[in-house]
Amino acid sequence: MVERETWATRIGFLLASIGSAVGLGNIWRFPFQTAENGGATFLVVYLVAVLVIGIPAILAELVVGRRANINAITAFEKLGRPNWKIAGALGVFTGFWVLSYYSVIGGWVLRYIGASATGGYVDDPAAYFGAVSAGPEAVALHAVFLGLTVGIVALGVEDGIELATKFMVPSVVVLMIGLAVFGATLPNAGEGFAYFLAPDVDVLVANLGSVVPAAVGQALFSLSLGFSIMITYASYIGEDDNLVVDGATIAAFNTFVGVLAGLIVFPLLFAEGVSPDTAGPGAIFISVPTALGELPFGGAVGVVFFFIVLIASLSSSISLLEVVVSYLVDSYDVPRPVVASGLGLVLFVLGVPSAWDTDWLGWFDAIAVNLFLPLTVSLVVFFVGWIVAGDAVDEVRRGAEGLPDLSTLWLWAVRTVVLLAVLGTLALGVLELAT
Ligand code: PHE
Ligand code: NA
Repeated sequence: MVERETWATRIGFLLASIGSAVGLGNIWRFPFQTAENGGATFLVVYLVAVLVIGIPAILAELVVGRRANINAITAFEKLGRPNWKIAGALGVFTGFWVLSYYSVIGGWVLRYIGASATGGYVDDPAAYFGAVSAGPEAVALHAVFLGLTVGIVALGVEDGIELATKFMVPSVVVLMIGLAVFGATLPNAGEGFAYFLAPDVDVLVANLGSVVPAAVGQALFSLSLGFSIMITYASYIGEDDNLVVDGATIAAFNTFVGVLAGLIVFPLLFAEGVSPDTAGPGAIFISVPTALGELPFGGAVGVVFFFIVLIASLSSSISLLEVVVSYLVDSYDVPRPVVASGLGLVLFVLGVPSAWDTDWLGWFDAIAVNLFLPLTVSLVVFFVGWIVAGDAVDEVRRGAEGLPDLSTLWLWAVRTVVLLAVLGTLALGVLELAT
């Protein structure tokens, strides 16, 4: 039997996990969810959700993965509970589902690399977004983005992407800080900062039932939780890493990039007189081009910016596809390129409605975030907190010698607050879908 691979370095694991976490969820979805849920109020609830639910839940997935040391479905079997395989399978399925429309947005990013070069969007960024976000060309670009993802996974050259991620994380941060600073100098930027950073308690109270599930859902989506991804990645971790530190590091980076996106988008929208709720899913695709239109060398900056967003999106999309592919390759002995291309074909078809009409994209996204994600995470959290609790605590303590022992606090958080919050999100999410 071949010995199971582990990450060559801890940094390798962290980079891959951060590569998976940081993506369109931060740069596209976070600003747009913030805009749809009342600005700063959403930000506050989101930050609390990351801290109270996201970090304990990421730790739960890491614990399952490292303990079982095998793919995310078999993991539950290996921990002694074969029936719970359904939780791993649901996560794999959710990844598949999300990738079908994630790649549509990836296609928009491809389009904006080209449009930055030609200046296609400078006259009227909002009209441009409306024209290119749906229709035959969006379908074609969805196919191209998916093709890139499939190609990388089929060839098994994720190493290349890992390398690219190493450069992507710092460059995305530097470029985004640059754009944020530029945005801050524009007239009316202050209104944008107020919108994003000054919460209103009355707004929160009046919209609690919709803001809370949206924020929790965004936190799960953004941290790649409920997709069996962190379970899979953690199955390759060496024994002596401290999982608490790893989980917190991933969450910190991921949150930082999302907040940075908000600091860019809202001042720019207000500077341009575009109301955040009319920008909708186009928030980042309308605001950034607006700024680029006014910058010297804006076209070149745009090419670089959207290219980096592309790398960030690819490092997420390959992690989504990889989980499905590696499970099928392990279990059925089919060649990797065959599995990857077969799945690519199905994903293409599944994504056509989303590429054709943004209402469909919204529907696919809502099903994922309101139903599949909280459902999967509830199962994982229940499993860890109540079924394999003793093993889980051992696993959290491993590699944490000499540091404050948070394992008991964590266990009780997972058993109570985290579980209830995710179940509540599920209930409210399903209610929202039904209305
Ligand atoms: N977390 C990624 C993002 O924020 C999306 C993603 C979800 C990627 C699940 C992989 C798995 O963009
Ligand atoms: Na993210």
